[in-house]
Amino acid sequence: MATRGHAPKSAWELYRIAKRTGTWDPENIPLTQDRAHYQSLTPGMREQFTKVCALFYEGEVSVADTLAWFLVGFTEPDRRTFLSTQIFEEVKHAEFFRRYFKEVLENAGTSHYLVPEYRGVLLDELDSRGRAIGAAALAGDPAGLERAMVLGVAHYMGIVEGLLAVSGYDYFDEMLSTRGLFPGLQEAIRQIRIDEGRHIVHGMGYLRQRIAENADYAALVQQLFIEEGMKIPPRIDFAFHPNEFGLDQQRQQEIAYEHLTQRSREIGLAA
Ligand SMILES: [Fe+2]
Ligand SMILES: [Fe+2]
Repeated sequence: MATRGHAPKSAWELYRIAKRTGTWDPENIPLTQDRAHYQSLTPGMREQFTKVCALFYEGEVSVADTLAWFLVGFTEPDRRTFLSTQIFEEVKHAEFFRRYFKEVLENAGTSHYLVPEYRGVLLDELDSRGRAIGAAALAGDPAGLERAMVLGVAHYMGIVEGLLAVSGYDYFDEMLSTRGLFPGLQEAIRQIRIDEGRHIVHGMGYLRQRIAENADYAALVQQLFIEEGMKIPPRIDFAFHPNEFGLDQQRQQEIAYEHLTQRSREIGLAA
């Protein structure tokens, strides 16, 4: 779902859409051609392809594991209702990549691709955001909980989904669609992208609302976005070594900045 040019949807509307469209099954995507394509790649191409798949796999497992804290943290019933669909969808995304590594990528290891540029944002820092939400909720601290939720949503839905994942889809597009490679992965990405569109719309709607109510949050989220924006070049650099697919690194970097600016606009921080 494109986020640009659409009227903001409520959590309830997004829940209703998710009930109808978020029901695809990762088990039903054929992977036979993908396996043949993988075997036909050069070692350098395999490395470049596996690296990005590994970051998606690790990222999807991590967000699926962390999202329960957000279910605890949202105080509005409609947002909790929507989150129930998001948890189901994140688990399915992780399931798809687990299957992909087993059936296509020959059980390649993924953890050595978790370099510091990605490990923090995808795993450790995200885990800390979740635990901060849980601690504030258990302490019965509404102000602390709201602050932890604003930071948690900015990190999860703003950066992990709204910057890293969407930039990754564009990277896959450049790598695969023009060459007609990996039809199973392309179909899964098409479905995941639609699911993630709802997650981002919901998260940015939450941030827009909180920032409109409390101007202090604007500076808090802006700071986080600036810090993450500064990490775009080293993260892109990692994904382009090796670059046997011959992708355009500069263009990919511009796409990433564009996504971050778009998220800022959606929450009322940029014109
Ligand atoms: Fe996901
Ligand atoms: Fe998501």
